[in-house]
Amino acid sequence: MVPEDIKKSINQLREQINYHNYRYYALDEPEISDAEYDRLLRELIRLEEKHPELVTPDSPTHRIGAAPSEKFTTVKHQERMYSLENAMDEKELDEWYERLLKSAGEIGKNTGRPELVAEPKIDGAAVEIVYQNGIFTVGSTRGDGVTGEDVTLNLKTIKSIPLKLISRNVGIPERLDVRGEVYMEKEKFNELNRRQIKTGQEPFANPRNAAAGSLRQLDPKITTARPLDIMIHGLGSVQGKLFATHSESLDYISKLGLKTVKFLQVCNNLSEVKKYYQNLLGKRDEVPYEIDGIVIKVNDLELQKRLGVRTRTPRWAIAYKFPAREETTQLLDIQVQVGRTGALTPVAILKPVRVGGVEVSRATLHNQDEIERLGLKIGDWVAIKRAGDVIPKIIKVITGKPRGKKNFTMPGICPVCHAPIVLAPDEVIPRCPNIACPAQIKGTLQHFASREAMDIEGLGEKIIDQLVDKKLVLDPSELYKLNLEDLLTLERMGEKLAENILASIEKSRRPIPARFIYALGIRHVGEATAVILAEAFGSMDKLKQATKEKLENFYEIGPVVAESIYNFFHNVNNKEIIDRLKKFGVEYQPVSKKPAGPLTGLTFVFTGELAKFTRSEAKRLVQEQGGKIASAVSKKVTYLVAGAEPSSKLEQAKKSGIKTISEEEFLKMIEK
Ligand code: IVH
Repeated sequence: MVPEDIKKSINQLREQINYHNYRYYALDEPEISDAEYDRLLRELIRLEEKHPELVTPDSPTHRIGAAPSEKFTTVKHQERMYSLENAMDEKELDEWYERLLKSAGEIGKNTGRPELVAEPKIDGAAVEIVYQNGIFTVGSTRGDGVTGEDVTLNLKTIKSIPLKLISRNVGIPERLDVRGEVYMEKEKFNELNRRQIKTGQEPFANPRNAAAGSLRQLDPKITTARPLDIMIHGLGSVQGKLFATHSESLDYISKLGLKTVKFLQVCNNLSEVKKYYQNLLGKRDEVPYEIDGIVIKVNDLELQKRLGVRTRTPRWAIAYKFPAREETTQLLDIQVQVGRTGALTPVAILKPVRVGGVEVSRATLHNQDEIERLGLKIGDWVAIKRAGDVIPKIIKVITGKPRGKKNFTMPGICPVCHAPIVLAPDEVIPRCPNIACPAQIKGTLQHFASREAMDIEGLGEKIIDQLVDKKLVLDPSELYKLNLEDLLTLERMGEKLAENILASIEKSRRPIPARFIYALGIRHVGEATAVILAEAFGSMDKLKQATKEKLENFYEIGPVVAESIYNFFHNVNNKEIIDRLKKFGVEYQPVSKKPAGPLTGLTFVFTGELAKFTRSEAKRLVQEQGGKIASAVSKKVTYLVAGAEPSSKLEQAKKSGIKTISEEEFLKMIEK
């Protein structure tokens, strides 16, 4: 039996440490010295070591030294994590506001101007943390919005995240899911990148990538060493507490010890929002972390709910982005890269320069035309623009400075395999036509292993280069038959590193569906389209068999993309690779079917112009409620929705006895 007074001391120490963590990490207003804090922590460690039966998962000692995991398990978000629509300029912001007022008016009550909240948009990685009765139980990445990866242990290394909420005169909800952004300060990011380069590792492209990459480390010890921080900007599921407004909810949770977004402002109208934007834009460089715009939200939570969501973005919020940043530097060289599709792209090698606090040394140039349009010569001084997350672009030559002398021309043969370059008649991009070109294979593997795709940690450019050059891996499926001996034949490869790489490959065997689809590298299929495909086709087998018509039924997928997906899955080589991946056990778990909705079992065809929605919105609404869309009239169609000036489909439908309804009737149907 442990004496009561020991139990009491342990509890008191935990409370004290939690409180001082909050003062220090969340408020940045410590009350005690570091030495005093260390003393408390050491005392707690000592007592816990003596009485291990009293150790609880929320103890502040748990931030240190959790064991590495083999792979992340997935976590289903209790409520879906949506992303934000972007406004790139004032016009787009005004349009969003007009739509907002219209929707708010149309849904009844709030016909006045809804109160808005403006906050900085932090450029980091989105996470969700679940508190059950005040205890941090699970933390996950956003993933595809529905499910994310369990990164609990890594989140626990972030000191500004309380493991236990503090209740000071406010009650703690039974369940509280908070959402925020894990980020890295710009200076700390530059420091980390210098360290990465020094130790022969790949530097990160930007602070957001660095934050996301650190969060997804299998070994929490590595995460501990990364300077991560968090800011909470919203809530998911909450039980046991009701809030009226967004700002009230953030105030409340900050009282519980959570670190919430700074510079939040309640605005009464759009012009206040615009002032806030200009003001923050002016302060952007002073803020130690990357802000890529502001987020505007409807403050009234009830109204938020009634405004609802579109497919992946809510109607009640928008991100109003900051313009890209500009700097000048010198163009040192132009190198030619061969991508995974064989496309040749010139890349500008720049004299390293800081753009908005972040160092850059390369820029894309797209193609020869771009170089000619800019009138670039090697040695020129150039103005570059960085849009937050991407590699910068050269916007112009600075003519006032000494000019460069050396002209650049695209090579006529592939710089890697020396095959003659081909320029198709309807294309601007020259390509290496050799599918066995090592550069294409390397590009495919790099894409497959990248953080956004299968996220195979440790399988960087240098290792992939060697694997391909030694012909150990010639397509993604071959990664899964690599063994220790294979890896040990590579230069500068130790047993520990080899084992880590094998563990990362192993961990990628059960990928998140959207990431797997994205990893395949289908032309025109980016991360967003991959999410749509994963949701629409429950399994890889279904996706493989999809016809072009079926693909085009999804409003985001146009004919070019549909054709590309179709061709990809009908290419013998690709089919073999996917089959081999499956044989090696690399496959995603079939996604469970969407629950039935009011339109389940019904198929709609639209014709003519609709007054209330665009065609895509109408399609989306049908799909959200379980219905299907067809592009032509057939026996399978249940309803034809006729707008103004319908096409011959209306006649066809009448002839085939298909029920024809007006837009109003359709509206009533979906409102039910
Ligand atoms: S609110 C449904 N507020 O931006 C709205 N998001 O591009 C949920 N982000 O996924 C997001 N700062 O990860 C919100 N103050 C802020 C934010 C913020 C950064 C991220 C968030 C979101 C992404 C969308």
